[in-house]
Amino acid sequence: MFSTFVISAVTIVAAALVKSASAADPTYSLVFNPQGANFFNNWNFYTGIDTNNTGNVFYVTQQDAENQGLISLNSAGNTIIKVDNTTSGVGNMTFGRNSVYMFSDYQIQSGNLLLFDAVHLPFGCSVWPAFWSQGPVWPDDGEIDIIEGVNMATNNNFSLHTLDGCTHPAAGSSIETGNLLSTDCFNQTAHNMGCVVEAPTPASYGAGFAAGGGGVFAVLWNDTGISMWFFDRSSIPQDLPTDSPDPAGWPNPTAFFPSSSCNLEQFFKPQTLVLDITICGNFGLAVFSQTCPGNCTDLVQTPSNYDNAFFEISYIKVFEETNGSSPSVTPEGTALPTGTQPGSSGSTPSGGSGSSTGAGFPTLSVPTIVSLLSLAIAFFILKV
Ligand SMILES: *[C@@H]1O[C@H](CO)[C@@H](O)[C@H](O)[C@H]1NC(C)=O
Ligand SMILES: *[C@@H]1O[C@H](CO)[C@@H](O)[C@H](O)[C@H]1NC(C)=O
Ligand SMILES: *[C@@H]1O[C@H](CO)[C@@H](O)[C@H](O)[C@H]1NC(C)=O
Ligand SMILES: *[C@@H]1O[C@H](CO)[C@@H](O)[C@H](O)[C@H]1NC(C)=O
Ligand SMILES: *[C@@H]1O[C@H](CO)[C@@H](O)[C@H](O)[C@H]1NC(C)=O
Ligand SMILES: *[C@@H]1O[C@H](CO)[C@@H](O)[C@H](O)[C@H]1NC(C)=O
Ligand SMILES: *[C@@H]1O[C@H](CO)[C@@H](O)[C@H](O)[C@H]1NC(C)=O
Ligand SMILES: *[C@@H]1O[C@H](CO)[C@@H](O)[C@H](O)[C@H]1NC(C)=O
Repeated sequence: MFSTFVISAVTIVAAALVKSASAADPTYSLVFNPQGANFFNNWNFYTGIDTNNTGNVFYVTQQDAENQGLISLNSAGNTIIKVDNTTSGVGNMTFGRNSVYMFSDYQIQSGNLLLFDAVHLPFGCSVWPAFWSQGPVWPDDGEIDIIEGVNMATNNNFSLHTLDGCTHPAAGSSIETGNLLSTDCFNQTAHNMGCVVEAPTPASYGAGFAAGGGGVFAVLWNDTGISMWFFDRSSIPQDLPTDSPDPAGWPNPTAFFPSSSCNLEQFFKPQTLVLDITICGNFGLAVFSQTCPGNCTDLVQTPSNYDNAFFEISYIKVFEETNGSSPSVTPEGTALPTGTQPGSSGSTPSGGSGSSTGAGFPTLSVPTIVSLLSLAIAFFILKV
């Protein structure tokens, strides 16, 4: 009788602890896994100046990035993606520091679960990195910002950018644990600020993220909404990094964008993943004085300002909800999901002018004007 009582009590307690995880939860198959020696296999590199965000960078080819040590594998088996921190641009008014902008062959869509485990994210005054996604036409096909920080900011921002009609519900009415900064995802509201939820913990970006040994970002996109989590190193769910994640058993998401206030099918098409690091740029300049002293563009010429401008990534994993059936793509992400727009893979994602990750600004943004002014002044001096 005593033992029966103990067993019942244990059963009740255990049932309470595992709460929502159950045998009926959806199950997932791994379909895209950039990691280790295979990390760069299924990505394309955009090369040229940072037209859309007007940052002071030059995006190099994959081959140049390899040769210049901007992309590499370190001794821990982690992937490094960084800004050039060895070349001096001192005295060169038009200097663009070499950096990386890469986008995936694979496209995420409803039914996908994405994990991103890193031990370091790029940071420092003038540094603006992001890991994000966009559909074939921007902003018509949606943008999801998973990791975004800038300058010496401490907390990661999760956000969506869309056409008019997609919103995040009012504060207090979402299950999320993050801080709601803005509710309208429309790209023409508040200079394309987007609907933004800030992670509540300073370990989610910058120096705090690195000091805590990094963590895992997760995105679950299904018919109910887009859920995004940040887990610091000490609170990563036990089913990570196994290949059988069960998000139904995780705590509430850090950010939750429910389909009840944003028709995801209407506003989001399959999304190309993008990893990039720019310098200053429209958003970096706009919020520079929030966390850094002086003048953003003064920093770009000095290489040591970029010693922390690197990603160190353990893995990226994308799963598809299959419940044991075959996934719609072959593992490694070499094939496209069914329903993908023809012709959208392998070409540069079409972001609008001033598109991408942060507050978008009119085409002739501050840095463009500054550059044009510098050119005009240089031209004037040369003529004199
Ligand atoms: C997977 O199973 C869950 C729970 O039974 C169900 O809600 C969901 O629709 C299934 N998904 C697929 C793709 O079959
Ligand atoms: C200044 O920087 C630009 C852009 O990075 C480069 O094309 C140019 O060669 C540099 N000029 C000098 C004098 O190094
Ligand atoms: C988050 O967004 C707010 C509002 O745009 C901005 O002030 C802040 O700098 C952003 N933080 C990061 C880490 O990007
Ligand atoms: C989407 O995922 C969330 C979190 O696991 C879950 O609560 C919800 O039931 C899922 N929705 C669908 C339609 O599968
Ligand atoms: C920042 O410094 C650059 C170069 O020294 C100068 O051209 C620019 O006007 C300054 N910008 C601001 C906003 O002070
Ligand atoms: C450049 O940054 C790396 C970290 O990415 C650091 O190890 C190195 O010391 C920095 N400085 C130089 C001159 O390479
Ligand atoms: C920048 O915007 C243009 C015009 O919308 C687009 O064609 C191009 O693909 C974008 N570039 C990147 C790297 O997203
Ligand atoms: C918003 O998107 C429209 C295209 O639908 C574009 O013309 C406009 O410049 C964008 N606005 C901002 C602030 O990015």
